[in-house]
Amino acid sequence: MRRPVIAANWKMHKTIAQALQFVKEFLPLLEGVEDRDVVLIPPFTALHALAETLRTTSIKLGAQNLFWEEEGAFTGEIAPSMVVDAGCTYVVIGHSERRKYFQETYPLVSKKVQAALTAGLIPIMCIGESLSERKKGKTFEVIKNQITEGLKGLQIQRSEQLVIAYEPIWAIGTGHTATPEQAEEVHSFIRELIRRTWGKEIANGLRIQYGGSVKPENMAELMAMPDIDGALVGGASLKPDSFARIVKYDQ
Ligand code: 13P
Repeated sequence: MRRPVIAANWKMHKTIAQALQFVKEFLPLLEGVEDRDVVLIPPFTALHALAETLRTTSIKLGAQNLFWEEEGAFTGEIAPSMVVDAGCTYVVIGHSERRKYFQETYPLVSKKVQAALTAGLIPIMCIGESLSERKKGKTFEVIKNQITEGLKGLQIQRSEQLVIAYEPIWAIGTGHTATPEQAEEVHSFIRELIRRTWGKEIANGLRIQYGGSVKPENMAELMAMPDIDGALVGGASLKPDSFARIVKYDQ
């Protein structure tokens, strides 16, 4: 059985005070939840304060990006060791918003995934097709290319070292969630690609999240699919009550 991993990607939302207020309201709602990984992914500026507050809890922290170099003259960038230093266990890499606004490509994503692995972080590598690619029947081709380029040359020893997030771009922030069947079809395809790359054991253990308009109302049906192992949640993770209901989808 794969342990579900449910993550709140806050994107460019919340000051330090707002992030702390969220945690204050969120923690009591999570009591008794132990059989899944819960991850908060705030802006960089709130990481340290949240790390202090979450130290005695099982909630993990993630960053939204990193740079692959360890230090140097790279104005505006954050090194993998700094992400670790700020208290993170996870790091989101290659989110479609970074691909769209910052021209991140998969060869670059691959360098970041490698840097994260080297630093001992768990990369959440994002993939997903656009609406026009889906309409042209190219979904599987796009996913295959993204996986192939994003994981090129990478080695992992254990399936827990990496998470893949399938986020169809047409479902992000639009309210149009993929149906559980549409998501499952791609998730099982991704697992098969991982099997061909790294073998059966890693493929069976690797967690694949779904992302794109996940809400308390649709989480349970998504999680009922055999290859959906969690969610990467944007808008619906900004409110403690809403995100707690997503985390407790089966209660
Ligand atoms: P929404 O949940 O707002 O659609 O965002 C999904 C996402 O991009 C998570 O990384």
